[in-house]
Amino acid sequence: MVEVPGGLVNAVGLPNPGLEHFLATELPWLVRAGVRVTVSVAGSTIGEYADLARRLSRAPGVAGLEVNVGAPDEAGAGLFEVREPFHAASVVAAVRREFPADRPVLAKLRPDVSRIVEGARACHEAGATAVVVGNAVPAAFPDGRAGGLSGPAVAPIALRCVTAVRDALPGVPTIGCGGVRDAASARAYLAAGASAVQVGTALLHDPTTVARLRDHLTPTSEEMR
Ligand SMILES: Cc1cc2nc3c(=O)[nH]c(=O)nc-3n(C[C@H](O)[C@H](O)[C@H](O)COP(=O)(O)O)c2cc1C
Repeated sequence: MVEVPGGLVNAVGLPNPGLEHFLATELPWLVRAGVRVTVSVAGSTIGEYADLARRLSRAPGVAGLEVNVGAPDEAGAGLFEVREPFHAASVVAAVRREFPADRPVLAKLRPDVSRIVEGARACHEAGATAVVVGNAVPAAFPDGRAGGLSGPAVAPIALRCVTAVRDALPGVPTIGCGGVRDAASARAYLAAGASAVQVGTALLHDPTTVARLRDHLTPTSEEMR
């Protein structure tokens, strides 16, 4: 990871301990802590996505899945490559088939304004409950290696994508993601039509970001009146 003005460039891959360890150790800990868990899944084939969904559907405490179909450097990370919206839709459909219909499946798409509407439509038709609009944006380190840019620098890009989906597909719920760090940056997404926001990079600077946001975004009793 390298800090750049307005954000970070990273090429960490998708660091995680793997499904077995997650099910044995991390999921029980999260459930005991009272966390509502939505698990992000990524695979190198559609079959691997389906297998992850099937096994996670049987694990107690998994409230929903997020299907990562928008990583900035899929080939570099060894992931199934989503070049066209139908690739993303095929993955979502495979996951949806394996995961109970009463639990949400989110499709996480890259913030590419020229393709976001098609991608969101295809994923929604394939059974995604909502579309997460935003991920790290394909970028490069100063030495030219491929990476993904995240943080405040990408917020205006993801915001444009959320707006495009709202205008073209008003029935598709969106979750804004990219550069959320304070109440103002979260509210910009909500004002553009997002139902919720996600926070990534800001947590690396300040792990209390989400708690602060929750406090600042919860209407006061005065505002509720
Ligand atoms: C160090 C790092 C690791 C990340 N790992 C993942 C990941 O494993 N899966 C994923 O879907 N997104 C991953 N992301 C992308 C974030 O979840 C988020 O979509 C993106 O960074 C934009 O939001 P942000 O500006 O709030 O970070 C990662 C981002 C960073 C900075």
